[in-house]
Amino acid sequence: MVWRQSIYKLFAFLCVIYILYALVINLFVHPGAEAFLSHKIGSEHEVKPGIWLKVMSIHVGFACIAMASGLINLVSRNSEKHRRFHRLNGYVYVVSVVLVDLSSGYMAPFATGGKISSMGFNLLNMLWMAITVTAIVHVRKKRIVQHRRWMVRSYAICFTNLLIHLFTFLLHKMIGITYVTSYIIGLYGAIALLLVLPEVIFRVSKRKKRAAV
Ligand code: HEM
Repeated sequence: MVWRQSIYKLFAFLCVIYILYALVINLFVHPGAEAFLSHKIGSEHEVKPGIWLKVMSIHVGFACIAMASGLINLVSRNSEKHRRFHRLNGYVYVVSVVLVDLSSGYMAPFATGGKISSMGFNLLNMLWMAITVTAIVHVRKKRIVQHRRWMVRSYAICFTNLLIHLFTFLLHKMIGITYVTSYIIGLYGAIALLLVLPEVIFRVSKRKKRAAV
């Protein structure tokens, strides 16, 4: 399947670029997140920048580890030889998801957009945990196909931040909607897209497999 391998390679390349971008921009170029925090002035819950920034660094660090470890397990062949590594790396992914979720839980009450954004982030936190746990339960019961599918669903959620900023950029910069409203729409748009996209991918690849028989 040449087309499938090419897609995997392109996807892996784009993920690596995004991971490096997220690390460099958030931890080195704008470690104080001044522009992002400026949108929180006058919000219901006052942000304590010192603690918020520390939690945000942990959040970004483990988000990048989750993206890297998830990517390795999804694109690598799970042969007998690699099984131990796959399992160990899988645990690295799960621990990272838990830490991203916990840090997100701290930041959610201060989210740009107030209560409505906070609710969206908390909903996503619960969904991400439930989806990831479902994937683990499947592999423990040796249901490999279902495990892979639920891991794809879990991994999709790693792209939340990328999609929120993409939506926000399009709505705010291109259409002129206020930053905060664009961010709220971006958050819910990202959640919807990240839940639907894996199902679309499963259907398309099923159809392609059927056509190849
Ligand atoms: C895995 C990839 C992720 C990366 C690279 C990432 C990165 C970031 C960054 C850099 C921020 C600071 C604000 C900004 O510039 O956007 C942030 C904020 C936040 N993230 Fe994540 N994040 C990821 C996934 C998630 C997920 C899956 C959730 C929820 C389940 C989440 C919840 C939050 C919350 C609640 C905030 C605070 C938002 C606000 O203050 O408005 N993040 N994230």
